Amino acid sequence: MNDIKKRVKELRTLIEKHNYHYYILNDPIISDGEWDNLFRELENIEANYPNLINKLSPTQRVGAIPIDSFNTIAHRKPMLSLSNAMNNQDLVLFDERIKKLLEKSIDIEYIAEPKLDGIGVELVYENGDFTLGLTRGDGFEGEDITQNLRTIRSLPLKLLASKPPKLLEVRGEVFINKKDFVKLNDRQSENNIQIFSNPRNAAAGSLRQLDSKITANRPLSINCYEPGIIDGIDFDTHFDFLKYIKKIGLPVNNLIKKVVGISKMKVYHNNLELNRNKLDYEIDGTVFKLNRYIEREKAGSRSRSPRWAIAGKFKAQQATSTIKNITIQVGRTGALTPVARIEPVFISGVTVTNVTLHNQDEIDRKDIRIGDKVLIERSGDVIPKIVKVVNRKNKNTPKFKIDSICPSCGHTTKNVNDEAIIRCLNTYCPEQTKGRIQHYCSKPAMNIEGLGKKIVEQLINNKLIINIDDIYSIEKNKISEINGMGNKSAKNIIESINKSKKTTFARFIYALGIRNVGEHTAKILEKKYNSKLDKFIQTTEKELLEINEVGEIVAKSIVGFWKDKNNLNIVKNCLEKGVYIEQKNESVSEFLNGNIFVFTGSLELMNRNDAKKMIDFFGGITKNTLTKNTTHLVAGKNPGSKLNKAKQLNIPILSEENFLELIKNK
Ligand code: IVH
Repeated sequence: MNDIKKRVKELRTLIEKHNYHYYILNDPIISDGEWDNLFRELENIEANYPNLINKLSPTQRVGAIPIDSFNTIAHRKPMLSLSNAMNNQDLVLFDERIKKLLEKSIDIEYIAEPKLDGIGVELVYENGDFTLGLTRGDGFEGEDITQNLRTIRSLPLKLLASKPPKLLEVRGEVFINKKDFVKLNDRQSENNIQIFSNPRNAAAGSLRQLDSKITANRPLSINCYEPGIIDGIDFDTHFDFLKYIKKIGLPVNNLIKKVVGISKMKVYHNNLELNRNKLDYEIDGTVFKLNRYIEREKAGSRSRSPRWAIAGKFKAQQATSTIKNITIQVGRTGALTPVARIEPVFISGVTVTNVTLHNQDEIDRKDIRIGDKVLIERSGDVIPKIVKVVNRKNKNTPKFKIDSICPSCGHTTKNVNDEAIIRCLNTYCPEQTKGRIQHYCSKPAMNIEGLGKKIVEQLINNKLIINIDDIYSIEKNKISEINGMGNKSAKNIIESINKSKKTTFARFIYALGIRNVGEHTAKILEKKYNSKLDKFIQTTEKELLEINEVGEIVAKSIVGFWKDKNNLNIVKNCLEKGVYIEQKNESVSEFLNGNIFVFTGSLELMNRNDAKKMIDFFGGITKNTLTKNTTHLVAGKNPGSKLNKAKQLNIPILSEENFLELIKNK
């Protein structure tokens, strides 16, 4: 038995090693037949000794049973996104900003990477074993897609390191190669299944499969590009990190390069843009990241993106088409949006059939009319837009004017508060109701699985739902009576409605659709009001404006929302019908309220980002520039000129230890 165990271990290591040569190095050292033999030998032994099978065996990449839903798991370190540089000038500004933040005048060392157009994920390796894989989600928490990620052949289930770190979190992008995408769509159409609009959507859909056997049939690839939390090994530079992860078997893109100074950055960016069509996979830009981790800490992060990195976007791709019609859409806030229905046209990976025209001003400025031949532009994930009219066949076509009557309910419309947008003023307008309820059920809101846009529309059309809280009174048999919906689907919907009732303050607030309150603001409000809805309902503009990230527009929207009895009623009914807001037992002390911190030098006991988060958590603010309003300067090792300036201005100076003491005492 011991010999068999030994052979199993040997075979697994051999297979991982040859996968590495095949998928990562693109340089196999055995033939496909020899690889098959190793694999078959392992399969045979495992068939005879099932107790030797474990999840990390290469034979088990598709062994999982389908699941009902994905678990949500918090990222140990938030997954931030990147801010964009739309042109070379923005790259120059970025480089200048970095020099200022680092207090340096010499050329800066960056790592330049292609910006892969796929889906960001996190891989967690514990003692070298792949134990967890998550989607990016909202950046704070993602969905557990471990069993789908395990089906990706180029993703090692065990790292090729003799002494792997205790914990290695790596972030990367899952994508589908252009050629594989064409083959996949051919297969879809042969099987009479709907084809995917682009490789990115196909990759996203594949990762969201509850049955990993379906994912295993999708040609997914992965490239890794960022560390998460790592315990057991340290890196000074990003380059060293990438070299290491490549060595231990993780796929790293081969166009990644060290570049020094802005002129080299521009060369890298322009070169990649010129050659993007020759690549095997879709990219939508370049990414520039500070190479030295110590410099990253010094540069710090904003709430959603780091200051130490930037995405250089490629220029938008353009095509011409003809406007067949212009229709008016009514959104959930009553906004009337004109949409041009155009002859379908293929631009940078997707077929465009509708283009939003935003508002009357935009239509007038560009003088857009039905029948016009127009130039359309689309870049990456940005919604397509009409650049200009190229040709008008019929010179007598009248100008297009948005009707002053709502196309959904016939109610009058108005420009409210000098907005460029025209709004329908009828709160009971069917299209608005539909939008509001669809938003309420959506994933980032109440996340009612199964209650997608189409079904909500059917429920509204059948008068089963009029207001949000009616969702909680629908009966199963009424749902199954709806066209084409069986008993089982109806039962599932009722179950997911019930499951979604237990929610968080942030989700519920976001779901209510208060104008100008997005997911991010909802999270800030959750913290401020300690998940207490009653406190939030009674808030005032003055109180809201005390919150760092809340401005006048948001404050006015919130107070206005709660003035409306209708909204209060809906919330009351939802709570009565079982919506339950989890209380997060954190009584947050805001003892740093009104304090403004500035950092200089490098921190050794924590990184700057974490220090900033602590300050933010206790109600303080962190700024980059020292002024007379600064209340504390935290000076780490090798402080810069800020130290002298603080002394001159008599601003209290804290060492890193002093700072931690201050926080710890609370
Ligand atoms: S680094 C804090 N590197 O772009 C930096 N991201 O808006 C985190 N992406 O969500 C990301 N290629 O999914 C990084 N070489 C690359 C990337 C990359 C594509 C995606 C990623 C991220 C988004 C940023």
